[in-house]
Amino acid sequence: MNNRWGLKNLGVGLGLRTAHYGTILADDPPVDWFEIISENYMQTEGRPLYMLDQIAERYPIVMHGVSMSIGSTDPLDEAYLRALRALKKRVRAAWLSDHLCWTGVAGKHVHDLLPLPYTEEALRHVTERVRYVQDFLDAPILLENPSTYIEFQGSTMPEYEFLSRLAEDADCGILLDLNNIYVSCFNHGYDPHAYLDAIPMDRVVQFHVAGHTNCGTHLIDTHIGPVIDPVWTLFREAYERTGGRSMLLEWDAEIPSFEETHKEALKAHRFATFPKRPRRSPNTPAGPADTADTADTADAADAQASTSTPPSKDAP
Ligand SMILES: [Fe+2]
Repeated sequence: MNNRWGLKNLGVGLGLRTAHYGTILADDPPVDWFEIISENYMQTEGRPLYMLDQIAERYPIVMHGVSMSIGSTDPLDEAYLRALRALKKRVRAAWLSDHLCWTGVAGKHVHDLLPLPYTEEALRHVTERVRYVQDFLDAPILLENPSTYIEFQGSTMPEYEFLSRLAEDADCGILLDLNNIYVSCFNHGYDPHAYLDAIPMDRVVQFHVAGHTNCGTHLIDTHIGPVIDPVWTLFREAYERTGGRSMLLEWDAEIPSFEETHKEALKAHRFATFPKRPRRSPNTPAGPADTADTADTADAADAQASTSTPPSKDAP
């Protein structure tokens, strides 16, 4: 079943990590799709892009960014957005996402996804920015619920209400991270199932699952696998409610072999039924038909775009 933008359920995906390039290109493993960290490929014409071009010929690609800073009060970075649009066109990405957060202010970038105060004023601010970005990119974006460790006393609504209203007001999609729901709800004493109940599932385009680190008093979203059973349970519930959406395993620290990472992702088949996707040989390039029914209208000048994106990293 497609979602409201005609974006398909791509099946079970993996985060593309440099340690796995060799195995992927040599063995052509049966992964349904890959998610890239956008920034890792936006300031280079070197090896990362060379490898990505080859992988994008074989697999559907989805882009996941870490520095749009949609919640900041700084102006949106148009050079960054142009580069994002150019990369999307280059790899024929099915869609792109970022986080409901801010990553800097007053021209300074930090490598953290910082939480927002959930207020009416912040909601209006972020809604306006999401609409601007979507107009600029001429495509819907997905915003991911963050993992958080602090809350603002000034917040006037829970995160799930903020995210739900934002999706409706800005007409954007949701990347629902079940591990982040679990981590944040544990840290703040909320019920993750109540969080799930409040999400407009017709806005969800993609899921994330991941491992985390239990520090006793709090959980840290380390993306060290494996995924714990309560997170898989949340995934199963959410998947059923959406009618089926693309899912992806994030494993970003202490990354094991490709085989072990893929095996962990494939556990998703125990909890959900995915559409059968035809296997593609290296000689059968991935195309838009593999990923979406929508056309990409980014213009060719984007290919020349540059960006002031901060240095890249593997772990969002
Ligand atoms: Fe995530």
